[in-house]
Amino acid sequence: MNLVLERYLKEKATNKESDDKDIANSDKGLDDLIRSRVKKGIQDLSAYSIPLNECPVKLDGNESPFSLPEEILYKVQEEIKKIPINRYPDPDATSIRTKISNFTSFPSEGILLGNGSDELIEMLIITFSGGTGKILFPVPTFSMFKLVTVALGLEPLEVELDERFDIDIKETLKVLKEKNPDLIFLASPNNPTGNCFTEGKIIEIIENSRGIVVVDEAYCDFSGKTYLNIIDKHENLIILRTMSKLGFAGIRLGILFGKAELAKEINKVRLPFNINSLTQGVANVILDDLSFVRENVQLITKERERVYNSIKNLSGVEAFSSDANFILFRVKDADKTFKELIDKGVLIRNFNSPGRLENCLRVTIGKPEENEAFIEGLSQIISS
Ligand SMILES: Cc1ncc(COP(=O)(O)O)c(C=O)c1O
Repeated sequence: MNLVLERYLKEKATNKESDDKDIANSDKGLDDLIRSRVKKGIQDLSAYSIPLNECPVKLDGNESPFSLPEEILYKVQEEIKKIPINRYPDPDATSIRTKISNFTSFPSEGILLGNGSDELIEMLIITFSGGTGKILFPVPTFSMFKLVTVALGLEPLEVELDERFDIDIKETLKVLKEKNPDLIFLASPNNPTGNCFTEGKIIEIIENSRGIVVVDEAYCDFSGKTYLNIIDKHENLIILRTMSKLGFAGIRLGILFGKAELAKEINKVRLPFNINSLTQGVANVILDDLSFVRENVQLITKERERVYNSIKNLSGVEAFSSDANFILFRVKDADKTFKELIDKGVLIRNFNSPGRLENCLRVTIGKPEENEAFIEGLSQIISS
């Protein structure tokens, strides 16, 4: 067993031991306080946790493997030197919103920024839960939709995807009609399944919903498919994007596009200064020239196809074709394969759970040599 895996297993065991001890020793008053005052839904939740990240090859987070080119890094450093760090940032991040408006040709009054699109998801659920208090999303999907819904004491409506991981339109329309959710989240491409949902089904949902439909386009640069241009026609449609998958996960910048009237309502729950001055400074530089980002996206897309073709025929592996920067695949024993890959220095994400994701693992596309380490490692594990 390698050191990283050993430490991971030891930490897990120690955490559990100390959790058990904490519960046994904890002040009973504190325990009662938590049980009586923390919302029931939150008591039952698990915090969003990121597994260990010390493997030499890190392909678990759907991040970009590429950092900034030298000349852009230099410009960023120069920009950061100028930032008055003792002052609050521009509360409306006007300059970034204007730049985004210019390159998307979308009016800036309909653009809102978040501390990652995670924050925008939270703002959306806070804002649009004043009708039935029900939030619909297909499952499996990005975990944040449910986490925030439950944390706010609202009701999640989960509709299972079909066996091809596409929307079950009949069931979705039925639930829409019966439960009239305030908000619907559709991540397309979907995480962790990697596929785009069928366009006709997305449109049918937008047209049949009496609430807001959010198409989360976190991975749209890898699919080339966007619904941004139909907001004009469908006023209940909101689009989410993020800089996280394009090489900027560290600056935490999510983008929301919607009708100005809707953006105005959502903006009321935005915490002041949610986009800090360092993020604004970095974004100001990178948004001036996105050509290196486009090149990286092309390379990742090409690598995605190479990885897919390399693993899809391995015996006992079922790989699902992807429109994103990661690939979901099924093996005979996901827990074992996951640990054995860590042993070989490759960290991916384990989604093994009963149901649609049984024995499923997700690998993020990295640099060619990292992908090679993954392919090589998986092939060895499968053939051993
Ligand atoms: C579908 C989807 N939406 C949103 C996010 C969150 O992105 P951000 O880093 O902007 O908070 C993720 C992150 O993995 C995602 O997969």
